[in-house]
Parts: sequence; C-alpha cells; structure tokens
Amino acid sequence: SKLTIGLIPADGIGKEVIPAAQQVLEAVSPNKFAFLHLDAGFELFQKTGVALPEETVEKLKSECAGALFGAVSSPSHKVAGYSSPIVALRKRMDLYANVRPVASPVGAAGKPIDMLIIRENTECLYIKSERLETLPDGTKVAWADRKITEYASKRIARMAFKMALQRGKLREAKRQQGGSVAWQGQPKVTVVHKSNVLSVSDGLFRESCLAVHKEDPSFAGVKLEEQLVDSMVYRMFREPDVFDVAVAPNLYGDIISDGAAALVGSLGVVAGANVGDNFVLGEPVHGSAPDIAGKGIANPIAAIRSAALLLEHLGLASEASRIHSAVDKVLNEQAQAMTPDLGGRGTTKGVTDAVIKLL
Ligand code: NAI
Ligand code: MG
Repeated sequence: SKLTIGLIPADGIGKEVIPAAQQVLEAVSPNKFAFLHLDAGFELFQKTGVALPEETVEKLKSECAGALFGAVSSPSHKVAGYSSPIVALRKRMDLYANVRPVASPVGAAGKPIDMLIIRENTECLYIKSERLETLPDGTKVAWADRKITEYASKRIARMAFKMALQRGKLREAKRQQGGSVAWQGQPKVTVVHKSNVLSVSDGLFRESCLAVHKEDPSFAGVKLEEQLVDSMVYRMFREPDVFDVAVAPNLYGDIISDGAAALVGSLGVVAGANVGDNFVLGEPVHGSAPDIAGKGIANPIAAIRSAALLLEHLGLASEASRIHSAVDKVLNEQAQAMTPDLGGRGTTKGVTDAVIKLL
C-alpha cells in the first residue's frame, strides 16, 4: 500500500520548492507515495480569512503518514485575525522538536561541518503572549511573556541525547565501511542558554537538560557541554567543527540555525523537520523569500533534503540516504548548475532534474 504524504507549499518559493521535493520523492521510489495537496498560508488568509483551515489539520491527522511544508510569508506588522499557520501547526500537532542538520564537507571556514541543531518548538517567546500598555505620559510599553516548562525542556533534551547516540552509531558504521566523517569525537550535546542573565527561565531549561543527562545510563556515553547563546554564535563561526548536537530553546534555536546556514553556503540548502511522537512535518529552514519568489531560481535542495529527513523518520533510511547522496554529488560536481544563492547560474528545475537523474 502507498504512503500518503501531505504537501503544504503555502507561500512564495514554497510553491516552487515543494513540487521539486515531490518530484524527487516520486523518483526515489516510484509508486510508493501518494500525495495529498493541502492549503495554508498568508495568501490563503488574504483570500479566505483563514490561514490554517481545519480541513488541513484534520487530513494531516487522519490521512497522512507525514507531510512537507514550504514556507509562509508572515508580515512584520500585526494583521488583525492572522497568525502564522506553521507556528499553529507545530503546536496543534505537538511537533515539539525542530531538527535542523547543518552539514557540509567544506564549510565556509574551510573546515568540515556536521552539526545538528535541535530547537524546542512549542514554547519560549513564541507562545506569542504579548500586550501593549500606554503609560500615563502617553508613551507605550510592550510586554512579552516567555514560557519555559520543565516538561518541554526535558522532552527536548531527551531527544537531543538520543539523537547524539544515534549519530554516534551511524558515524561508527560509516567509519567501519572506510568512509570519512566530519565529527571525530564522542557524541556531544551542547546546551545553549543564557542563564547567566535569565537565571529563572533559561535556568530551568539548563537544569532540565542537566537532569536528563543523568536520568538514563545510556546518556553517559554523550558528553554534555554548555554554551551561552551569544558566544555560541561566535564559536559557531570561528570553530564550527567543535559542535555535534546543539539543543536550544525556541527563539535561540531559530536564530542560531539561520546563522549556521551561512556556514554551509546558503539558507537554500538547510533542511529541517518538525518532529513529534506521532507525526513528522518536513520543512526547510528558509522562509518564503519574496525577493526571488516566482523567478524559478529558488534553491530546492533544502526542501529536497527535508523530504529525505521525513523519510528517515518514516523508517525509509535507504531511500533517504539515496537522496542525500544524489544531492551531495550534484553539490560537489555541478557548481555551475547551482542556483544563484550558491554562486551558480542554474534554476530550481535544473537542480531538481540533476538530482533526479542520479536517482
Ligand atoms: P527568507 O529565508 O525567506 O530569505 C532570506 C534570504 O535568503 C533571502 O535573500 C532569500 O532570497 C534567501 N533564500 C531563502 N531561501 C532560499 C532558497 N531556497 N534559495 C535561494 N535563496 C534563498 O527570510 P526572510 O527574508 O527573513 O523572510 C521572508 C518571509 O518568510 C517573511 O514573511 C517571513 O515571515 C517568512 N518566514 C517564514 C518561515 C517559515 O515558513 N517557517 C521561516 C522564516 C521566514
Ligand atoms: Mg527561522
């Protein structure tokens, strides 16, 4: 029987890169997948007044084995009645981990980089509890609540330690087959926080991660390290090769993963997946890129690798690794065919076709 994959391109280049990822899925295993096209996004909101239709959530839950999301164009100013459908989807489907691999054989610093950023996906400042107050003198004050729970922090920390162990095993297997691996040390998790200043909220995140490290004997095989978020940014650029897995609260994780994309050349190549206990939604790290939308030059690699991440989580490891190998080969051997973000003169279609040809 076929596996049904939900496709939610949403806005901007999402409409270009999600169809590219769909073609790659069709090529890697013809007849294995059925696709269900679903609506969401700011454009949909402008047309209908609804950014995330109930039908989309219902169909994801009842009919899909997993899904792919493109990007939404959320305006920077407040629009009455609108709130980001991807933030809502993560919350409603309890996709509590945003898993973002940042890897390249030759990173921007000339060193190999292979790190995994795990961003908590349900709380922190993104609970969007904001209010505006006007003082007696008529000036304004804006407030935002930040929520950090022990439950969500421990849950994300467990995921980080488990994935660090799993990555360690995969590296070992690769080494034994004579392959080279970027990360040489024992599995490591770097807890990113700012508890020197926010000792209560970031303090709870940090303590929860430290407690989880001690809770399972197998986690003793993972080295635990801490890094304040500001110096994390600095170190990522100076020595990207010292990180294996990094785990962070929602906002910090969002920021450091966009930053880390610069280390591998472009936001257009960094994949992500929103992972819950019962569902996985692949989603490239980039946004809707209005500056290049509609031109056919968006880099589809982030979306294609997000599809591969989705397959990994669905237990289709060999299909996933075939996609990654094809993408690696195109990246290594066909620089001219790359899209402009990577310095080439290629198109979305050209890059997609090159990947499909290798499959
Ligand atoms: P962005 O990620 O859309 O674009 C940043 C820069 O990277 C732009 O110069 C863009 O052209 C380039 N870029 C991004 N993806 C690319 C690709 N696949 N190929 C080639 N170049 C690529 O971030 P920005 O400009 O800050 O936000 C634009 C819109 O996207 C906003 O409305 C924002 O709310 C939304 N957004 C949505 C996200 C989501 O759906 N999860 C995440 C981030 C932003
Ligand atoms: Mg972001």
